Amino acid sequence: MAHRVLITMDELESAVRLNAAFEAAQFETAMVSALDDVRATVLKEDPDLLLLTGGLHESAAARAIAAVRDGHVATLGLLEPTDADPASAALRLGLTATLIKPVDAAEVVALGRRLIERKRLQERTRILGDHPAIQEVLIKIEQMAPVTSTVLIQGESGSGKELVARAIHDLSPRRAKPFIAVNCAALPETLLESELFGHEKGAFTGAAERRLGRFELADTGTIFLDEIGEIPPSVQVKLLRVLETRTFFRVGGVQPIKVDVRVVAATNRSLRDSVGLGEFRDDLYYRLNVLTIYLPPLRERRGDIPLLVRRFVRELSETHDRPFKGITAEAMQRLVEAPWPGNVRQLRNLIESMVVLAPGREIRASDIPPDVLEGAGRLLPVRIGATGGGHPSQELEFILRNIMDLRLQLEEVRRRLDERPQRVQVIELGESHPVADVLPANEVEERGSVVYRPGMRMADVEKEAISAALTQHRGNRRKAAEMLGIGERTLYRKIKAYKLD
Ligand SMILES: Nc1ncnc2c1ncn2[C@@H]1O[C@H](COP(=O)(O)OP(=O)(O)OP(=O)(O)O)[C@@H](O)[C@H]1O
Ligand SMILES: [Mg+2]
Repeated sequence: MAHRVLITMDELESAVRLNAAFEAAQFETAMVSALDDVRATVLKEDPDLLLLTGGLHESAAARAIAAVRDGHVATLGLLEPTDADPASAALRLGLTATLIKPVDAAEVVALGRRLIERKRLQERTRILGDHPAIQEVLIKIEQMAPVTSTVLIQGESGSGKELVARAIHDLSPRRAKPFIAVNCAALPETLLESELFGHEKGAFTGAAERRLGRFELADTGTIFLDEIGEIPPSVQVKLLRVLETRTFFRVGGVQPIKVDVRVVAATNRSLRDSVGLGEFRDDLYYRLNVLTIYLPPLRERRGDIPLLVRRFVRELSETHDRPFKGITAEAMQRLVEAPWPGNVRQLRNLIESMVVLAPGREIRASDIPPDVLEGAGRLLPVRIGATGGGHPSQELEFILRNIMDLRLQLEEVRRRLDERPQRVQVIELGESHPVADVLPANEVEERGSVVYRPGMRMADVEKEAISAALTQHRGNRRKAAEMLGIGERTLYRKIKAYKLD
């Protein structure tokens, strides 16, 4: 299908010249004489690209761009050489890209084509954002999709890692084959191994039947290993073997199994640091680190926030069959400035709750919960599944679910208050004073405090902290790990290492 371009005629001579160049390049073209007519013409012509040849600083240009920018239309503006800082002009106006006059017609056509193709890719992958880092991610996805090399995606929680992994699969020759996702942090060590590689009948107590693992299920397709940094050492060795030879054994099996699987892995912590700490095998790291994609946190690409907000408001209003809400300039500004520790997921969840719960016809600054702006983050983001439809019963269900969520949040707050971690107590002691002189041993136990004594190594402090947490939770490792802010498996490892069991 031919690409369609709509050209504004603010500067007639260059508009005609560019129109001819686009036609020669097999584009379908149309011209619009006044910026004010753009909205109506866009509806009629449904272009892929809107080319603004001038008048970018008139308010009509801002209106024209606003009319198209949330959809699939790419916008390219031609700036005067006297305009300062084209990058910020593009951002301020919400343009996809700018060029400075005088322009070479072939260059405009080539850039126009690239912008259209990029925009189509964004619609297909649902990865939004005009920030250069996101554009780079899209270029990498296009380059990496056709090959079978392992890809490692790094980025903070909620920054879009799974979205990117699916895009790589969907654009690859394997798109019609399975995409199997495994959250490596969600399962304890023994279960993870049989989940990945399967097990034979009778391999362990409870293994009544042979079960295929995720690697076999993903054969000819893609396996997505999420939170790969959490894989325990014993499984790391096995994974290394699969990456090297594409073969493995089912748990309890003796026959090597060969698979044709593309591996895409994701992590929200630096694997390099984990290697440095001795928690992740360096040979596995090098095997995984063949092609990498880094997703920047939302706070480092704030220019994309308005675009994401507008798109989410539109999509979620439709999903929940709510009247379409706009957003006030003040509310938008607050969202642009918020810290977003939970990245795009947090932003999307917030918009979802505001689309449903904000009372007015517009989302106002007062509708934004203060903790979002303060950066405390919501304790538990209210996660609401798509309800669609909008029948009264669905709405009722939706409201009930929200109430349930709020109750759970309240209970969580209570629980956390009850279990507030004890403070670490630092006591400076002279060499000659044994700790017992200052604090009787039973008091240490009773108060669940961790005592620092001069000469202690970090490992000694850690050991004391772990044993205090275990004492406080009467040996409940899940609760102790939660309180210490470490994974349960990490806690198990450390208990073994410090011989606390
Ligand atoms: N660039 C983006 N454009 C549009 N939506 C996005 C973008 N990035 C993330 N999202 C949306 O944000 C949510 C979280 O994305 P995703 O699950 O891919 O994040 P993640 O990095 O895997 O998070 P986690 O580390 O918590 O697993 C999803 O709803 C996703 O569609
Ligand atoms: Mg994820």
